[in-house]
Amino acid sequence: MRIGVLCSGGDAPGMNPCLRSIVRTACISDIGMEVYGIRHGYEGLLTEEFYPGENGTPIMGIRSVSGLSKVGGTILKSSRSKRFQDPSGVKQAVKVLQKYGFDALITIGGNGTQKGAIDLNAAWDGQVIGIPGTIDNDLYGSDFTIGFATAVHTAVEAVDKLRDTAGSHELMFFVEVMGRHCGDIALSTAIASGAEIACIPEAEESPERIVAKLKKIKDDGKVSVLAIVAEGDESGGAYAMQKTLQEAGNPFESRAVVLGHVLRGGSPVAADRILASELGNYAVSALLQGETGKMVGKIKNELVLTPLEECVHKHRTVDADQLRLLQIVAS
Ligand code: F6P
Repeated sequence: MRIGVLCSGGDAPGMNPCLRSIVRTACISDIGMEVYGIRHGYEGLLTEEFYPGENGTPIMGIRSVSGLSKVGGTILKSSRSKRFQDPSGVKQAVKVLQKYGFDALITIGGNGTQKGAIDLNAAWDGQVIGIPGTIDNDLYGSDFTIGFATAVHTAVEAVDKLRDTAGSHELMFFVEVMGRHCGDIALSTAIASGAEIACIPEAEESPERIVAKLKKIKDDGKVSVLAIVAEGDESGGAYAMQKTLQEAGNPFESRAVVLGHVLRGGSPVAADRILASELGNYAVSALLQGETGKMVGKIKNELVLTPLEECVHKHRTVDADQLRLLQIVAS
């Protein structure tokens, strides 16, 4: 069985340990599996770009993934291929998969990547299995996506530093974190860093209510305040929120900071390395069981397979218990 693996969309810490797990699971299988690493996501599939494997071939061996458990980013490289989004691109990709005799494809990435996997699965007679790899944690079918835990860890480290300077200068910081339309990174960062406010798309709060809370916080004697703002929040992000609250009477002097792509970098934390290893291994097992058109995930500590259509079109709802928890611990 010949398997292609690609990473597409925004990179996420943990993609490398996931590849390592896929390659090693395939190498030790006794049915003769070969893994080809496809470079630059769907774009590299169109341009027939493969990661150099062993003995001058594109076949990845056990040693070609050595040391990858702690390496951030993706050695396969990633991209957001415009050409692949067109039906002619999907057709061309199928031709390439057939030309190289692939039996299966594993797609590591977020929502856009798994949409592409659905298109390929419909157009090609090989097997397609998706793996949720994105910092956003926005895919239905897994409680956590690979990269989310590291992104939150990185955000919390940054926010802890901002708290120091906020305390020294008696300031409020609006800290914007990535996550596209999902507020999970912001909510988890707020809980873990002890932020007073989280602005997330899933829970709207009027500027007047937030300002009333800030006035109370100030009256209670707080001198430094942190608000974590999800990039997808309807406020429009940290700078927009800072302006809106200033106009609504924010009693604190404030600054805005955008953490941006910093959250996608760095060595994956242990939780991401473990999840990546589990999901990579499970994806190969799913292929061996003849599965296709599904995404692997972990729900309530169980490895599960969910149809890609559901993963892409159903929406994960933010954890209501976590929202309540924030309100309690940030009071
Ligand atoms: O999906 C991952 C992500 O980092 C999102 O959080 C963010 O909205 C987007 O990608 C940024 O994409 P780009 O790197 O293409 O600007």
